[in-house]
Amino acid sequence: MQTNSKVKITVVGVGYVGLVTAICFAHKGYKVTCLDINEEKIKRLNDGECIIYEPELEEMLSENKERLTFTTDACLAFNDCDYIFICVGTPEKEDGSCDLSFVYNTADLIANYINKECVIVIKSTVPVCTNEKVEEYIKSHLVNDVKFYIASNPEFLSQGSALKDTLEASRIVIGSNDKIAIEKLKAIYDSFNLPYVITNLRTSELMKYACNSFLATKISFINEIANLCDILGADINDIRLGMGLDSRIGNKFLNPGIGYGGSCFSKDTKALVKFASEAGYELRIVSSTIDVNESQRYILIDKLKKDFSSLENLNIGILGVTYKPNTNDLRDAPSIDIIDKLLEERANIYAYDPVALNDLSKVFKDKIYYCPRIEDVLEHCDIIMVLTEWKQIVDIDRKLLKDKIVYDGRNCMR
Ligand code: UGA
Repeated sequence: MQTNSKVKITVVGVGYVGLVTAICFAHKGYKVTCLDINEEKIKRLNDGECIIYEPELEEMLSENKERLTFTTDACLAFNDCDYIFICVGTPEKEDGSCDLSFVYNTADLIANYINKECVIVIKSTVPVCTNEKVEEYIKSHLVNDVKFYIASNPEFLSQGSALKDTLEASRIVIGSNDKIAIEKLKAIYDSFNLPYVITNLRTSELMKYACNSFLATKISFINEIANLCDILGADINDIRLGMGLDSRIGNKFLNPGIGYGGSCFSKDTKALVKFASEAGYELRIVSSTIDVNESQRYILIDKLKKDFSSLENLNIGILGVTYKPNTNDLRDAPSIDIIDKLLEERANIYAYDPVALNDLSKVFKDKIYYCPRIEDVLEHCDIIMVLTEWKQIVDIDRKLLKDKIVYDGRNCMR
């Protein structure tokens, strides 16, 4: 095994995946340089500020600060480095396909600046064949005549449990068509002491999409069964219990509600359907998963409209706006679409969230009321929608809800 402190790792992109990856490698004793084009983020990180909301990350950033460098200077970042982890965003394009421009911008910088043999690892979620294309691209743009290897190393961390998901991951997937790359990557991961899945580039790329799409499918499946339960008078929670105890099914990702959100499931399911179709295969199950999820976010509004002839001027309290608890992320949060729709119906919105009100105010400006305490919502509203299962919300004293009409979008208020 190599001496960790002698190995230089460069992580490109200080978003969720990049920052957590960098801090975890630093925690294992490696010297890590983080490169990002966003000067403000780099400045804040250099000032010791953790730029994402993630339990225990700030403490770990501070504990490992002597091994972490944050910079916008690509020349410095790629000088003399042994491993490069590409962790830049791969957002959704309008047609549902994956926007690889950040990946190729990074490939350009790498081709310009690497000056010794290194392993280039793509951690960003990218369509099948991207690793091979990036390899060709770098080869044809390389300024210094150095050898490099390409490997795919998808990540499976969830926001809110990102550190545990990385340091105690259920598996480390390494995909490469080159044995040396695999050995080199294993050398830096061996200290994590976790099971490996070793495969080729295309398989590794597809594995990531298969995992996210399967989880998304479980959610859409249980949401449809829950909708049917409402019609037929059956109990979804007993069904979940009965299903979950069958170890072939498992009890995870079977909580019904207003559907999945966040930066991954929606984008990845759409990208998978798109590149599968381009390859000549229609993925019918994943397509249905997407359709079900899109209508599921309006399920509470449908219920509300059945109960009230008009929503105009109704005061509606929103408890929780992030796409899930323990994150401040509002990307693709169902709450945004729900509030939009309620505003269209001319309802008055009073929103509470323990961490995301500031970000929410950038979306809705003065169109809604922002309540720093749950009590403020309850004071103004008799109709309450629970949109994120934050502990603070789940634990509300039930006496306070006695006279309220609660629409539970996360099946968490039982
Ligand atoms: C997801 C995957 O779980 C990670 O394994 C993956 O690495 C990550 O995407 C990624 O590709 O980067 P994340 O988006 O952080 O992680 O969040 P999840 O915990 O998976 O939740 C996604 C959404 O599904 C949330 O809106 C959540 O509320 C919803 N959900 C989850 C349900 O509606 N029901 C459930 O039973 C579980």
